[in-house]
Amino acid sequence: MAREPVIRSDQAAADADDSAVRPAGEIVEASQDDELRPARLDDVVGQADVVERIRILLQAARKRREPLGHLLLDGPPGLGKTTLAMVIPRELGTEFQITSGPSLSAPKDLLPYLTNASEGSVLFIDEIHRLPAAVEEFIYPAMEDFRVDITLGDGLSARTINMKLQPFTIIGATTRSGMLTAPLRDRFVSREHLTFYSQDELTTIVQKNARKLHSAITQDAAAEIALRSRGTPRKANNWLRWARDFADARADGTITLDVARAALEMKAVDHLGLEELDRRYLETILSVFTGGPAGIQAIAHTMNLPADTLEDEIEPYLLRQGLIQRTPRGRMLTARAFEHLGRTPPDSSQPVSESERSSRLF
Ligand SMILES: Nc1ncnc2c1ncn2[C@@H]1O[C@H](COP(=O)(O)OP(=O)(O)OP(=O)(O)O)[C@@H](O)[C@H]1O
Ligand SMILES: [Mg+2]
Repeated sequence: MAREPVIRSDQAAADADDSAVRPAGEIVEASQDDELRPARLDDVVGQADVVERIRILLQAARKRREPLGHLLLDGPPGLGKTTLAMVIPRELGTEFQITSGPSLSAPKDLLPYLTNASEGSVLFIDEIHRLPAAVEEFIYPAMEDFRVDITLGDGLSARTINMKLQPFTIIGATTRSGMLTAPLRDRFVSREHLTFYSQDELTTIVQKNARKLHSAITQDAAAEIALRSRGTPRKANNWLRWARDFADARADGTITLDVARAALEMKAVDHLGLEELDRRYLETILSVFTGGPAGIQAIAHTMNLPADTLEDEIEPYLLRQGLIQRTPRGRMLTARAFEHLGRTPPDSSQPVSESERSSRLF
């Protein structure tokens, strides 16, 4: 029986921190996320290939009695990066510490985590793409040789002392692996990319979690929630909670198909799982940029939202759904997006002039 990991963190949880980049109304409380988070690898639904590879890494590490190699998890928000990072130390029966890139502003912020890391323990760094350069350089010898180089004093009297660390594992999570520098990326022995979940997988997650919440749900209602959850377990959990509230307030407490539909309609979630913000993004490209191409900064300015939010939260699913295209000139709506918005796609036989195109970029 594995020991329960000791969790140390200077913040409620890494999730609490990243709520800062979510649009208003999307803030997910860490405690809510935690309630439904799978605790063991066997409870994790979907991501079969990733889970299988993690199993192999775990078995090998246990057999050799060595720490797991550093692991980088990337993928859009809400797909299970934090979940997997928390499951791993639990499976290994080792200690677990949690921090995040933006909260480490200088090497001294990271140092306690490194010196506290016990042999074989896991240090989870969320949003690792937001580590400042100085912290990143400080982490290199820790990852490679389990050593830190501390500079004392400055100028001529400066000297560097090397401190030995226990062999441990860093698990990094990022929604933007492209923003990681190559030296940092290369120090991760394994890299795993999480992808959107299928409707069947999400249906299973909704059913399991309804049981955890002691809520009755019909099979078709679970499938309906799954369908409108943008391939994302966090979304599915949020809609499940909302449908549960709706069922308690407006029905007899059972989430039936009608209850689920009415609940989601009230939140303006359409049959593709798009919400108000997704549609506003599409509408902006359509009406302001006549369907695109439009640069991400221009769209962000027009919508009065950070470009990061669009790139992290809105675009991955729209790309996956084939509603937008990313071209070197900017974002473009596809014919499917026009249809989804109830418009006729423009006649592609009439090419847009070069000057008109470039003027749309700015
Ligand atoms: N494979 C899974 N099976 C069941 N539930 C899952 C799975 N992955 C994620 N979840 C659920 O979705 C919630 C969000 O997942 P998690 O916090 O791990 O996402 P994340 O990738 O870390 O997101 P972010 O980038 O926003 O930090 C979890 O609390 C959990 O309930
Ligand atoms: Mg997370």
